[in-house]
Amino acid sequence: MNEMAIEAEGLSKVFGEGDVQVHAVRSVSLQVRRGEVLLIMGPSGSGKTTLLSMLGAMLRPTSGRIVVGGVDLATLPESKLPAFRARRFGFVFQDFNLLSALSAQENVEFVLNLAGQTGKRSRDTAAKLLEGFGLASRLHFRPHKLSGGEKQRVAIARAIANQPDVILADEPSANLDSRIGHEIARLLKRAATHEGAAVVIVSHDARLKDIADRILWLEDGEFRAMSEMAIDPVCGMSVEKQDSPHLRRDGETVYFCSAACRDEFAANPERFVRRQAAELPAANPS
Ligand SMILES: Nc1ncnc2c1ncn2[C@@H]1O[C@H](COP(=O)(O)OP(=O)(O)OP(=O)(O)O)[C@@H](O)[C@H]1O
Ligand SMILES: [Mg+2]
Repeated sequence: MNEMAIEAEGLSKVFGEGDVQVHAVRSVSLQVRRGEVLLIMGPSGSGKTTLLSMLGAMLRPTSGRIVVGGVDLATLPESKLPAFRARRFGFVFQDFNLLSALSAQENVEFVLNLAGQTGKRSRDTAAKLLEGFGLASRLHFRPHKLSGGEKQRVAIARAIANQPDVILADEPSANLDSRIGHEIARLLKRAATHEGAAVVIVSHDARLKDIADRILWLEDGEFRAMSEMAIDPVCGMSVEKQDSPHLRRDGETVYFCSAACRDEFAANPERFVRRQAAELPAANPS
């Protein structure tokens, strides 16, 4: 079996034409092994979602080649893509994208159905998976009745339901409190180590570094060498020290993603220093 779950070569994506042309991704190459967690970080607008969408066969590249589990995506006709996606990929989106008319169990069943598993078998598989995530008493709840953390567990259960070769996660921990953010990180890591999936996460969230086997930095659509990084104490984003807004405090330089975060910090530094200290014990999930 091929060790590489994904191989991408010279991937580019250009949106629009003429004056409004945007080179969202510029000749990016990468390989991801089974069982590996790759974290792709980078500023807003650097092309992370575009790259992930191409890797997940949701967006055709302008040029370049993507091979998933030995299959060249360019050779797949449009009509075969939905089934291919359902079997090979698990997706986790920032806002989970659970179907609101379906229960937790039906949300998982739905992706099993797409990949060809139906009837009682898919019902049982979905129930077992969700029970494994501690959701036995929530199987029949619709998403609006689930807490943020519960929704997230349903989303992860759905992403791994078909035992995909590849899990693609776009900002999976954004807008979540620290505890739930760590929980999703742990579950994604488990999908890689227990299920052997290749996990590709794009995110600003520096907490996800704990589970990453490898981190790549995307900027203006290209991978760059990571310069020295720091964590913005206000929003928690990873920022490059070079060229970032910063200020000096107690003899140390503190870096920020934006002037707005710097000003918020400057108005009441104690608040953010205390918050960081409170979050420290949870910083290394097992
Ligand atoms: N459908 C589209 N049409 C035109 N331009 C687009 C389209 N999708 C993305 N872009 C542009 O491509 C660039 C990369 O966008 P992308 O969404 O991949 O960034 P990102 O790194 O995911 O940003 P964020 O961290 O804010 O989610 C941006 O300049 C964006 O405006
Ligand atoms: Mg994005």
